[in-house]
Amino acid sequence: MHIHVLGAGAGGGFPQWNCNCHNCDGLRKGAIKARPRTQSSICVSGDGVNWVLFNASPDVLKQIQEFGPLQPGRALRDTGIVGIVLIDAQIDHTTGLLMLREGSVRREIYCTDVVKGDLTSGNPLFNILGHYCGVNHHAVPTDGSSFEIPGAAHLKFTTFALKSAAPPYSPHRNDPHPGDTIGVLIEDTKNGKKLFYAPGLGEIEPHLPPLMKQADCIMVDGTFWTNTEMIDLGLMDKTARSIGHLPQSGPGGMIEELSRFPQARRVLIHINNTNPILNEESPQRRELEAAGIEVSYDGMDIIL
Ligand code: MLT
Ligand code: MN
Ligand code: ZN
Repeated sequence: MHIHVLGAGAGGGFPQWNCNCHNCDGLRKGAIKARPRTQSSICVSGDGVNWVLFNASPDVLKQIQEFGPLQPGRALRDTGIVGIVLIDAQIDHTTGLLMLREGSVRREIYCTDVVKGDLTSGNPLFNILGHYCGVNHHAVPTDGSSFEIPGAAHLKFTTFALKSAAPPYSPHRNDPHPGDTIGVLIEDTKNGKKLFYAPGLGEIEPHLPPLMKQADCIMVDGTFWTNTEMIDLGLMDKTARSIGHLPQSGPGGMIEELSRFPQARRVLIHINNTNPILNEESPQRRELEAAGIEVSYDGMDIIL
């Protein structure tokens, strides 16, 4: 299985257009050692030709321009993308669908019925796409059962619900539903290797460790270093955990949780521009390195 990181940043990317935080300012001025990052997305292939896109970021056009295998190569209108899996209905994971509106072949989109509900109401992207390419929605399970995506050779997908909050524009914003956010275990059926992917992960609930123990690579939420990162900077009044992102540091944080799965390559993704781990010379980055945890970047390839 070939995993390609298209965008390793959280919503807003890095640097964020209106942000003057230590990281964003430092990156613009060349004052810190760091790489820019577009917004959260990966693609995965079992044969190197047919790819499943996970999330459609607002930066998807740039991401496709930078990764040849997704580009047209066989017909006048063509793509290497055979299906799109959405892990939630958030702006940073869905807005790119509007940029993929051209053509007369329907987009094959895999998401929960709950996410489809948001994408046909509060954020009605599916309705809008109905006036362009159209959408074939495939409801993904959250009961631990598996499915395949036609055209995605040698890959099997198991999706599961994660505790989280629906987006601000969701009709059930203050009433979380199972399926607002999912994670996915992707298996290469040729060699049995598995990726556990959960870019939005607020809590390691009891159903997750059995799945994480099977994984050869665990790619998870790297949004914030501390639970109060945005509060401390005066940018938001909510904690990381309350918006569905388990912070890396401290007791019960992601570093501690990931130490339970030493069999896997452990990689952080969906990294917010305020997170000190983006600075490659920061003590926080050193702490991650000492724990054997990698920080993903745009263009990173992982072969399992
Ligand atoms: C999140 O991951 O919490 C959301 O995508 C935040 C956002 O981009 O507005
Ligand atoms: Mn996000
Ligand atoms: Zn910033």
